Amino acid sequence: STVKKIGIIGFGTVGSGVYETLVTKREKITHLIGSDLEIPVILVKDAARKRHVANDTKVTDRFEEVIALADLDVVIEVSPDAETGYPYVHALLSKGITVITANKELVAKHGETLLPLADANNCRLYYEAAVAGGIPVLSSIRHTLKTNDILQLEGIVNGTSNFILTKMREEGAAFDVALAEAQEKGYAEAVPDKDVDGWDAYFKTTILSQWLFGRAPVWQSAIPIGIRGIRLEDLTLAEKIGGRIKHVAALENISGQPVASVRPHLILTEHPLYAVEGVNNAIHLEGSIVGSIAFQGPGAGKFPTASAIVEDLVNHLSHTSEKQPDVLNISMTRNEEKSFTPK
Ligand code: NDP
Ligand code: HSE
Repeated sequence: STVKKIGIIGFGTVGSGVYETLVTKREKITHLIGSDLEIPVILVKDAARKRHVANDTKVTDRFEEVIALADLDVVIEVSPDAETGYPYVHALLSKGITVITANKELVAKHGETLLPLADANNCRLYYEAAVAGGIPVLSSIRHTLKTNDILQLEGIVNGTSNFILTKMREEGAAFDVALAEAQEKGYAEAVPDKDVDGWDAYFKTTILSQWLFGRAPVWQSAIPIGIRGIRLEDLTLAEKIGGRIKHVAALENISGQPVASVRPHLILTEHPLYAVEGVNNAIHLEGSIVGSIAFQGPGAGKFPTASAIVEDLVNHLSHTSEKQPDVLNISMTRNEEKSFTPK
């Protein structure tokens, strides 16, 4: 059709960023995809709250009103977590509606079910925004590192943790004060324990492993280690010996088997992750032909995340997206899933 119809699930930091970007970039997007865009529906938790959207966009808290729309081309899913997003995304893909999500917990826990479901229904599930926010790392790896074997990867993939560590080190800020600022800026998860206890990085590392190696990693420890235990004295001591403490996600290819860890590291000045500060993320990897390369940029926030989502949308609607990797085993073990208990 000459009009593409887009639904949005979730209208918080990311959902509103996507909406505003679709409005401000409408002319360019229309040119790129060869059709106009409409946003007939937005699903939220509290439909009574006033939202700044056009009159022809219906804001509802009833998913039935979304799924009943016969002619939606794509739904953008940016609800808070896997538990919320899974039933929606399952229902949409079952109906053959392509979904673009930023919900890394959803992809890490249920990608193994949802990706084949999309295939079976001739639609797609995209999730560039789920890993490292605005950095187009998944599609870059897919497009440009097909012949290389990936030997190892080290990344800063949780913007909130990096923001907190930077604020503490630079300003002597207390952990709680820095976390409150990350929440205020829209970087943190709805349950910020997922950020500071390492689970968000754990979900992203699971996705990276599947994307790079076609399988979930073996973990060096059953649960990730976050930044909650890091004190100001630790950061000062690290500086004294010429380093910084960073929260690092690592994947190593051991004879084709990815082995992963998520924990704080002492990073020395010459290391590519040393200068990655604030909400920035970085992925540093070693390819068998290219050698060492790095991707860096904003890892969270309204417009960086909206950017990744809108680029997925434009690639899908202009038929320029890459085929996604085959799923061998994306999910985490039941054991690991159970060990997340928000405090
Ligand atoms: P927010 O908490 O800001 O927004 C969540 C939205 O989901 C709200 O609009 C909320 O509705 C809606 N919602 C909550 N429960 C339901 C429900 N049961 N049914 C329908 N809608 C519901 O989250 P963010 O925008 O920050 O994050 C959204 C997703 O994007 C998460 O999965 C997150 O991990 C991911 N992400 C976030 C990034 C960021 O920088 N913030 C970066 C990359 C990924 P209401 O408005 O009524 O409360
Ligand atoms: N809470 C996440 C972070 C959002 O801080 O990195 C981006 O995925």
